[in-house]
Amino acid sequence: MGRYDQIRSDTRVCDADLEGFSNRSEKGAGTTMKILVVYESTTGKTKAMAQAICRGITEAGGECVLQRAREFDGLGDACALALGCSTRMKRPLPKVRQIMAELPRLDGLKVTSFGSYGWSGEAPGIVADRLRELGGEFVGDGPLRVKGHPTQEDIEACENLGRLLVEKCR
Ligand SMILES: Cc1cc2nc3c(=O)[nH]c(=O)nc-3n(C[C@H](O)[C@H](O)[C@H](O)COP(=O)(O)O)c2cc1C
Repeated sequence: MGRYDQIRSDTRVCDADLEGFSNRSEKGAGTTMKILVVYESTTGKTKAMAQAICRGITEAGGECVLQRAREFDGLGDACALALGCSTRMKRPLPKVRQIMAELPRLDGLKVTSFGSYGWSGEAPGIVADRLRELGGEFVGDGPLRVKGHPTQEDIEACENLGRLLVEKCR
């Protein structure tokens, strides 16, 4: 049993039990949804993407929990998980690999992946495959990958992804 299994078993999926959510937003009029944005970033590029996703979530009336991968301690009552990191030696960074190995089944959870890369950019695709393998319902056209530092256009794409996560949780 992975270390997050017990935590996940106590959670609800948003569209299964919306009235169970206690922390509601003024903006969302009873539709606040907690979305985890978990990332690992070495020089801040993937972090900038994570922050922009979070901004999109908040702007759309959701509740964003932004965490570094090493702070992640389970899914709680989240309705969605955005998991991101950059690529190192064609793989995700170590803390994200650890999360991927220890996550429980994600059936019904909305999921997405993202990350900055230098030349080959495998990590977000590997993360996406794992989230889908665990039963997550992927949100977006595919892993959101950015070469190098995110441009304004990339930041807007991240914000849009945040908004889409909120929409899919409703
Ligand atoms: C040791 C090392 C190995 C890397 N390996 C890869 C790689 O295999 N493929 C790739 O696309 N980028 C690779 N990169 C580039 C990073 O993914 C890239 O610099 C990224 O923008 C860093 O984002 P971050 O600041 O969010 O960590 C590597 C960088 C370092 C330092």
